[in-house]
Amino acid sequence: MSAPWWQSAVFYQIYPRSFATGGAGTGAGGSPTGDLAGIEAHLDHLSWLGVDALWISPFYPSPQADFGYDVADFCDVDPTYGDLAAFDRLLGSCHERGLRLLVDLVPNHTSDQHPWFRAARSSRDDPKRDWYIWRDGTPDTPPNNWVAAFHPVPAWTWDDATGQWYLHQFLREQPDLNWANPEVVEAMHGVMRFWLDRGADGFRIDVVHGIGKDPELPDDPPEVAGIPHSALNDVPQTHELIRGMRTLVDAYPGDRLLLGEVYLLSTEQVATYYGDGDELHLSFNFPPLYTRWRAKRWRQQIADTHRLIGERPGAWPTWVLSNHDNARHRSRYGSEERARAATFLLLGLQGSPVLYAGEELGLDDAVIPPDRVVDPGGRDGCRAPIPWTAAPDHGWGVTDAWLPWPPDPEYRNVETLADDGASILHLYRRLLAARAASPALQLGGFVLLDAPDDVVAWRRTAPPAAAGDTVGADALRSGDADEAAGDGSGGDADDPSDRIVVVNMGSAPASVAVRGTVLVSSDGTGEGAPFTGTLAPDQAVLIVPTR
Ligand code: NOJ
Repeated sequence: MSAPWWQSAVFYQIYPRSFATGGAGTGAGGSPTGDLAGIEAHLDHLSWLGVDALWISPFYPSPQADFGYDVADFCDVDPTYGDLAAFDRLLGSCHERGLRLLVDLVPNHTSDQHPWFRAARSSRDDPKRDWYIWRDGTPDTPPNNWVAAFHPVPAWTWDDATGQWYLHQFLREQPDLNWANPEVVEAMHGVMRFWLDRGADGFRIDVVHGIGKDPELPDDPPEVAGIPHSALNDVPQTHELIRGMRTLVDAYPGDRLLLGEVYLLSTEQVATYYGDGDELHLSFNFPPLYTRWRAKRWRQQIADTHRLIGERPGAWPTWVLSNHDNARHRSRYGSEERARAATFLLLGLQGSPVLYAGEELGLDDAVIPPDRVVDPGGRDGCRAPIPWTAAPDHGWGVTDAWLPWPPDPEYRNVETLADDGASILHLYRRLLAARAASPALQLGGFVLLDAPDDVVAWRRTAPPAAAGDTVGADALRSGDADEAAGDGSGGDADDPSDRIVVVNMGSAPASVAVRGTVLVSSDGTGEGAPFTGTLAPDQAVLIVPTR
């Protein structure tokens, strides 16, 4: 049986407010916020780049308290972004190009302006009251010690009019739905069907681990007091609910996908959300995103991910370094050299990569002056608008978009970098092409190679290698005669479609005993030539090994 599309796919996240405006560059007029037509107008860039599937952050009608993650209608498009016809056109254009599209499903909560919550709040007797989570008490003492996200405040708000508390793991404007009520399950399944029937290829599912609740709502343990409950909620009820979603999507033709955001900072816990191949098809795994640029730490994260997810039946890893919730990895790692080398982690490790729009430009986070801060979670910097051209409006038709431009937009824009063959944009494109041409990189086995302290190295084998093998100690250390997998434990070294990736995270040059031809190099040097055995600081290479 061939692998489903999403196992070999490279995903690309679009934050619609920040991606592009439909009128930009066409003379039709610009806008400070992006829209669906803007995405459609720039699909050429994404096809040229070589990604396979888009995940678009929420574009539903929303008061924008959490910039779209506070949904007021799950089955429509906010006028800021267009309308359902614009969505249909975008989806059709994606499919014409062979691009797939994931809608962002937000099942844990609604906006407090959603008609469901307005009804629920109107009276204790309202039929929708139990669609949310209410508890008795007094206005001075919340029902438990759960903390909301973004600020250390209780995850409960007292509703004066009806004299009860309601739960919200995020903002008070985002009340949690009560998935213990079968009517809520049915309503949200209806939302899923709405988008699947329109042809969506699946969902990225927001805080999916949060939807089930322990019916007792017990206090979080004192040792984690102060940590938002949304990073802790991990109960059996959720798995049952995810199985229900899985049954629903699997009944559709075309391998529709559930890509869950499981924001639990333990790969071991994340792995359980794949179930027995009957829960999420894919899950984000954030511990690597929070790992510093240190080879020892990365080796550990990679080994853990491989052991806990890569080797789990019915599971497949994902890799992500940037998104709309965290400082961009270019900013976290501190240099373009490192951002370039990190691309080899994303596109070379075993699993499905998820890129965040703008990382292919090597964007840094924008500097946000205090009077331009709009996000209650302090995430504006990574949400800066994408510069498309070097012109003062950067392709948006306005010089001042909803957030300040990221640094250096006169150079770091799509048009300028596309004209520069040595740019990071071209590096992304070359690596994506190398991946698309290599079954080993897309679907092959994985073997972590022993390497010098500051180096992370691995082999991708086709057909898959015996799981979990690590080649003998010192195999990659300088002076060793042959390249790593020659000892037979790293898979079939005769297989011409194997690949080796070596990343030097150190600040000094590193020597490794790999022999082969450099296919792609993070600084562009030596491509097409035999590997010299030496990597510059923060350099990475993709190699076709020879014996
Ligand atoms: C996770 C999303 O990625 C984040 O942007 C949002 O604020 C929370 N979930 C709440 O929906």
